[in-house]
Amino acid sequence: MKKRIRELIKDKPVDKTVSIAGWIRTRRDTGEFSFLEVNDGSCLANMQIIANEDLENYSREIKQLTTGCSVIIRGQLKESPAKGQEVEIHADEVIVVGLADPKTYPLQKKRHSFEFLRDLSHLRPRTNALGAVSRVRSRLSYGVHQFFQEKGFFQVHTPIITTSDCEGAGEMFQVTTPDQKGKGQHFFGQSAGLTVSGQLQAEVYALSLGDVYTFGPTFRAENSNTSRHLAEFWMIEPEMPFCDLRGNMQIAEDLLKYVLEDVVGNCIEDLNLFDKFIEKGLLSKLHGIVDKKFGHTTYTEAVEILLKAGKKFEFPVEWGTDLQSEHERYLTEVVFKCPLIVTDYPAAIKPFYMRMNDDGKTVAAMDILVPGIGEIVGGSQREERFDVLKSRMLEAQIDINEYDWYLDLRRYGTVPHSGFGLGFERLVQFVTGMKNIREVIPFPRTPGSAPC
Ligand code: 4AD
Ligand code: MG
Repeated sequence: MKKRIRELIKDKPVDKTVSIAGWIRTRRDTGEFSFLEVNDGSCLANMQIIANEDLENYSREIKQLTTGCSVIIRGQLKESPAKGQEVEIHADEVIVVGLADPKTYPLQKKRHSFEFLRDLSHLRPRTNALGAVSRVRSRLSYGVHQFFQEKGFFQVHTPIITTSDCEGAGEMFQVTTPDQKGKGQHFFGQSAGLTVSGQLQAEVYALSLGDVYTFGPTFRAENSNTSRHLAEFWMIEPEMPFCDLRGNMQIAEDLLKYVLEDVVGNCIEDLNLFDKFIEKGLLSKLHGIVDKKFGHTTYTEAVEILLKAGKKFEFPVEWGTDLQSEHERYLTEVVFKCPLIVTDYPAAIKPFYMRMNDDGKTVAAMDILVPGIGEIVGGSQREERFDVLKSRMLEAQIDINEYDWYLDLRRYGTVPHSGFGLGFERLVQFVTGMKNIREVIPFPRTPGSAPC
């Protein structure tokens, strides 16, 4: 039976017949045999294969193997006398499954730039760095589900096609059929778009089931070509009834610490690669976060800190305007030097659903900022008071007839409730140290680009 290289390296069942399948990274010939480095994607490490010239297809096939060819190997797993690996396979059989013409195969042994690899989203997961990102991403996703399931949250599958624009920022992709182009929209009887957030629908379920979360793709038609924005990204959105902003902040901090600890415990080999080649000190950064309480400041205090900083920012700081990424990063990297929760933003720069504070000027919002990224979480306590919510919606010029169902949640058995959205790609960026968000999602969608 075929085994994954990861298992063989871990269990080391030496002097046993084993079988693996994967892709050739390199081939090196000596007088009587060849060394093949095979990777099967299960881990960063390759398996070294010793293919002796006695093998029936040695000169006909094995000596033709090049980077990218696919093979199945059967042989004896042995302790390796050489440095660099603990075990190796002495091949009894090398089956060549698929060739990869070295004249055209784009991945060479040398390191390629991430920009170059972006044009090869169908082959880049075969590289060390992108393979490692993919495994870390998978583990983080598992950690998120594990965290919520252990705490008794139910997962809700909120719709991808929706008729409500949660963030109200007009950044929705429209969903229509080709014959309706121009005329627009009415496949669903009304204008519909791709969701920007599952929050409003998560609120529905939170007010029936208790604690819930969604984890799905979301879409934003914003024309931001930055290293932290995608037009399609994944978001984790818990929603908790009978929970105020403090409780919300605590769950967000616990979630981040839980998934960081889990990924460090389960992906150390991949994280070592990032620590060495992508962000020096990455592992001590991650350990430091798990061990320490997050910082906390209000928006108003944050503005004061920035005004007193004596630093020239590109965008001016003024109470009432949103914090720019340069401000966020200054606060978390220079002032607090740890993840920072900023609460109580001006109502005017936040969506209609956030709960109005007693000062009548700010809302019970919270963003979590982390070093190197800036905002990773955005959330709030929701406005549960019918009259306040309705007047906020009218002020925001929202058609309240379309959101009557949302108002019903306040008409019938309303409760204080809270939730947040954690940007999954920003989390993967934070954990891997990858500079550009396009490297942490398999098939990035950005303005002007949607490969595969
Ligand atoms: O702050 P945002 O817009 O919040 C919401 O959508 C709320 N409805 C969430 C909630 O309360 N349930 O987005 C949440 C997070 C951001 O903090 C950021 O990490 C990420 O989603 N995000 C993006 N990630 C990649 N590309 C983009 N264009 C993103 N926009 C937001
Ligand atoms: Mg936000």
